[in-house]
Amino acid sequence: MNTQTITRFDEIETQKADLGRHPVYVQLHGIEALRRFMEHHVVCVLDFMSIVKSLQRDLTSMGPVWIPPVDSAVARFINEIVLDEESDAAFPGPEPKSHFDWYLAAMDEVGASTGPIRRLVAALRAGVDPSSALRGSDLPASSIEFGCTTFDLLGGPVHVRAAVFFHGREDVIPRMFMPLVRELQASGTNCGLLLGYLERHIEADGEHHGPLAQRMMESLCGEAGDGRWAEAESAVRRALAARRMLWDAVASH
Ligand SMILES: [Fe+2]
Repeated sequence: MNTQTITRFDEIETQKADLGRHPVYVQLHGIEALRRFMEHHVVCVLDFMSIVKSLQRDLTSMGPVWIPPVDSAVARFINEIVLDEESDAAFPGPEPKSHFDWYLAAMDEVGASTGPIRRLVAALRAGVDPSSALRGSDLPASSIEFGCTTFDLLGGPVHVRAAVFFHGREDVIPRMFMPLVRELQASGTNCGLLLGYLERHIEADGEHHGPLAQRMMESLCGEAGDGRWAEAESAVRRALAARRMLWDAVASH
């Protein structure tokens, strides 16, 4: 990454650092606050997977006849992420589970309401258009706004989605989940499945997935000065601002 690229992404680094210091984590003192947090955050778990699968569709061969990937290292990376995200053997149960189902089990464990997100999934499964299904869901309004921003970004080109995936997800998730884990451990809340979920992401995203996601973004955005970087930057800023608005809404209660 050359100087021009680093300068361009300086303000994004500030946005990410602010998300790591957001007051929402230290407010999670009791079970009621945790339920509320999870009932909002679950939409992020669903839309993360939508970003991953959209990248897999572009970066690996998904058509009726297989053709070799342009970059097999990137293809391996995205396939590896999908393997864990969609069917993680690390789930503490007899069968692998998607991270989405892991999160739902964690919500059930603390008594959070999973009705709204399950009804949204049922509507998507029935073929309802994603934005209409989300807008018509009974999830919190701030979660609907967050999800709609992501669905909109999913309509962008692959380099934009790869940048949102790195800066808006892989590189920022450990910074958000670490203070969350510290707070939950300090509060003594009984939420083992959620803690396992969070720790799994801190380990995988921070140590392994993050650097590979950065390489994927850089290879897709091309040389510094290419217009793709400017498109990526604007989408990333939007994605990070959407997360900030979601956390502000949860914290404002
Ligand atoms: Fe995950």
